[in-house]
Amino acid sequence: MLSYKHGFHAGNHADVLKHIVLIYLYKLQKKHNKSISYIDTHSGNGLYKYISKYMEKNKEYKHGIKKIEKYVGENKLIKNYLNILKNISKNNNFYPGSPLIISSLSSNSDKLYFCELHNNEFDSLKKNLNKFTNIKNINTDGFEYLEKKLDYNKSYFILIDPSYEIKDDFFKINHILDNLEKYGSSKILIWYPILNYEDNDRFIENLRKKGIGRIINFELPIISNSKDRGMKGSGLLIINFKENKILRDLKALSKELHIYLKQNDDVYNPRVRYL
Ligand SMILES: C[S@@+](CC[C@H](N)C(=O)[O-])C[C@H]1O[C@@H](n2cnc3c(N)ncnc32)[C@H](O)[C@@H]1O
Repeated sequence: MLSYKHGFHAGNHADVLKHIVLIYLYKLQKKHNKSISYIDTHSGNGLYKYISKYMEKNKEYKHGIKKIEKYVGENKLIKNYLNILKNISKNNNFYPGSPLIISSLSSNSDKLYFCELHNNEFDSLKKNLNKFTNIKNINTDGFEYLEKKLDYNKSYFILIDPSYEIKDDFFKINHILDNLEKYGSSKILIWYPILNYEDNDRFIENLRKKGIGRIINFELPIISNSKDRGMKGSGLLIINFKENKILRDLKALSKELHIYLKQNDDVYNPRVRYL
């Protein structure tokens, strides 16, 4: 039985990082591809109202989108993300999830597949996205979908954004990374939480040792090292994206996001590098 509800976390610092990079990479792909086949393995319900029992509970968005929404700096990735959010949520009464963001950016020639396992979230997803005709919502396990339903001769853009409420999710991510050749030239974006810096360093070091060589790792620490439970920051694995400028653009983004989102002065610096 799954208890995770993304509504408790929507718009937090992790969503901000993930959605800025997702938008940037999707738009970059659109420059080279007339149509994209996109899969979101863990979709959530797509739309999170600020006035709701979920978002009001911990108000995590106050440490995320609310810290950056009035951004007046020069970073194009942040400005672009904020413009897209404004276009989607005209009255700014909800924060859009990844399926709504990508549906809004997509063209009719793109095909979007949204997997969500949780029945209630799935029902809301269908409702929240009902105006889009180039999408398919699937009430299924996103990891199984990747294993069993993909045409491995095709190239996809895949977002893998599990809740990590069960440790198994890390094993499943490792399994995907051990079998990357199966995905050919597909572009993959994986999000993960930094719950504890020591464990996180081990996870990344193990990954580096695999010697895969086409993974950019973006880590954004937000809270300094302590024994407290909860997320200290989050990271992304950006796989098979080859344009040279990506590293430069993401480094600039990491510095800017860190200034706006970090919660302590002694928190570790962000990292953007090839593993
Ligand atoms: C972190 S949230 C997704 C947030 C969304 N990608 C976004 O950025 O707006 C993870 C979602 O995955 C769902 N979920 C958990 N296990 C799953 C699985 N094995 N397959 C598909 N969905 C799953 C949860 O119900 C939850 O809605």
